[in-house]
Amino acid sequence: MNWDTVAGRFTPPARLAVIGDPIGHSRSPQMHNPALAARGIGAQYIRVQVPVGSVGQAFRQFAKHGFLGVNITIPHKFEALSEVDEVDELAAALGAVNTLVIRDGRLLGRNSDGPGFLRSVREAFGVELADLRVLILGAGGGAGRAVAVQSALARCGKLVLANRSIEKAEVVAREIRAVGRCMDVTVLGLTDDEIAKAAANVDLIVNATSLGMKPGDAKLLPAESIEARHLVFDMVYRADGETPLLADAKKAGAKVVDGLTLLLHQGAISFEHWFPGPAPLEVMREGLRKAVKM
Ligand SMILES: NC(=O)c1ccc[n+]([C@@H]2O[C@H](COP(=O)([O-])OP(=O)(O)OC[C@H]3O[C@@H](n4cnc5c(N)ncnc54)[C@H](OP(=O)(O)O)[C@@H]3O)[C@@H](O)[C@H]2O)c1
Repeated sequence: MNWDTVAGRFTPPARLAVIGDPIGHSRSPQMHNPALAARGIGAQYIRVQVPVGSVGQAFRQFAKHGFLGVNITIPHKFEALSEVDEVDELAAALGAVNTLVIRDGRLLGRNSDGPGFLRSVREAFGVELADLRVLILGAGGGAGRAVAVQSALARCGKLVLANRSIEKAEVVAREIRAVGRCMDVTVLGLTDDEIAKAAANVDLIVNATSLGMKPGDAKLLPAESIEARHLVFDMVYRADGETPLLADAKKAGAKVVDGLTLLLHQGAISFEHWFPGPAPLEVMREGLRKAVKM
């Protein structure tokens, strides 16, 4: 990669970026660039593809070329954790860095996925995580782990961690019990029977697996186990329509929220790490709305 070209090619100059591998699909520039313009900040947010194993080197190049910050997406959030100079308490607890702040040449690791989830629940459902019993499908993956730890930190009423590879959910449960915040933590596999029974005793159902991204993906839980009283959060978003989980939830009369809302709120929190004051949320929402219609 020619970093001088990356840094010098844009007007206004590139000073923020999202890295991942692949990265072409990311809608983050369409959300952040209108926000930068609305705030009168003469900087541009770009996508940069970075291969696994090169995150530390990329961070040092961003710092050298005057970048202010970086978002980190799949598969680099764990590698990023070990490549920063400092992590705050939340990123350390969530075990992943999705936001880099570059200040005076130092690399500061932050995580906006967990708090973005919390804000999304508040905005979409008008409730606090502390008042909910939560079932997380895919609790052993990176996103599921962040949501599980954030729910525990918020002292949710009950936490059910379900994962196809059950041992990964058990690791997360052990970490949460060590934090000691959520009293009632159970672990399940992803079988229909177990999930249906668990759904009957929770308020919020979260899909943190990658299922639902492609047409024809298997269903995560039987449609009849979703009730009108449920709140259903699908972290997956699809530009070409609804995920099967959200379609079933709407049919059951449940309240729903999709991954685009999470993308918005985690993006706004990253923006607030880079620039003081509240992010221009509605400008970012409109940017995303236009981007998914493209
Ligand atoms: N909207 C947003 O802003 C946002 C933010 C973060 C993530 N996400 C979405 O969340 C999803 C997960 O991301 P991640 O970073 O956590 O990925 P990850 O670390 O790779 O985890 C993937 C998860 O999906 C499960 N899974 C994959 N294929 C499955 C299948 N066929 N049947 C059952 N479970 C399956 C995995 O189970 P095993 O452990 O058994 O493999 C694991 O729990 C992705 O779709 C991502 O786009 C969205």
